[in-house]
Amino acid sequence: MNGTTKADQLSSKGGAYTGTGKQGQNEFRKDIGSYASTSPFFVKAFDALRLGERTGPIIMIDAMAGPGKFGLDIRKTHHNSPNSKTKIWLAFNDIKKEPLMKINEEADKRGEDPYATIQCDICELNTAEDMRFIGKVDIVTVRYGLKDLPKGHAQVALEAMRQTIADDGMVLVADMFAKSKEGQYGVNLVHAKKQELAGRNEQREGVCHIPTLEEWQVYFLEAGFKPKFIYGTTSDVNTKNWTGQFVEDVSDPGDFKRIAMMDDIIKVACARHPEFQTEFQVSFASAHREITLKFPIFVMVGEKA
Ligand SMILES: C[S@@+](CC[C@H](N)C(=O)[O-])C[C@H]1O[C@@H](n2cnc3c(N)ncnc32)[C@H](O)[C@@H]1O
Repeated sequence: MNGTTKADQLSSKGGAYTGTGKQGQNEFRKDIGSYASTSPFFVKAFDALRLGERTGPIIMIDAMAGPGKFGLDIRKTHHNSPNSKTKIWLAFNDIKKEPLMKINEEADKRGEDPYATIQCDICELNTAEDMRFIGKVDIVTVRYGLKDLPKGHAQVALEAMRQTIADDGMVLVADMFAKSKEGQYGVNLVHAKKQELAGRNEQREGVCHIPTLEEWQVYFLEAGFKPKFIYGTTSDVNTKNWTGQFVEDVSDPGDFKRIAMMDDIIKVACARHPEFQTEFQVSFASAHREITLKFPIFVMVGEKA
């Protein structure tokens, strides 16, 4: 592919976002409830996979996996469930090598065999070299990944996932959404700033796009999936929860400075797009640096149309 990826070809600002925030695996979003395997968001997603109905081995890829927590939590919950008749064979995808290596370093510490890894742009999952050894899979999951891609890329990613799964397979997306276009302008502004402060190069990697639910449904349909909405809720965030996402060392004062910059951009977004403040329930406590937001999140599954 003469050095350019499918994502590169999609837009003049193409490329893919490779930032994850800076904190280590054990710290990963530990203060944000929707990442917990006990959260209703996780439980609804897990139930939607209907793993207990499957009898043969389940081949599953957790895509845009970062530290792999979503796939690992699904596997563990299934294996601990009295309803499980079979095991999950789990593989991880990420565009970066480091998170994939880290997943296997952690697995090694737990005494587990290494997991298969597919290091590639999600938009090219179906043609990735590593996929040749895996073949068709039953399930591809992606949590909090697709919204980081530039506009136009999520459909291509879903199409690549569809090509990767077997005819009776399923894709599961658990991610953020905007309720209205005005809310979308606000959240895109805020989320793009957060990623820029965490090191995203907008010229090279493009800008994130958080779709509305209608857009998500269209993406599923365009990629050849029957979309089924499973669950909607909010992920409640205090901007202080972002401590550690912008620097390697949390004692670095640059972290505090960047969270203050995030607080400012949230105020700007609310002033420019008042619907954003209502929709994301942005609240400002009287003390400085007490901003809370409720990000709408959803779970959607798709079977091949
Ligand atoms: C927010 S983190 C993922 C969190 C993780 N899915 C979870 O729920 O715990 C996003 C991840 O997507 C990866 N990523 C970004 N662009 C990608 C792309 N085009 N293809 C594959 N992975 C990508 C990043 O390297 C990062 O590890």
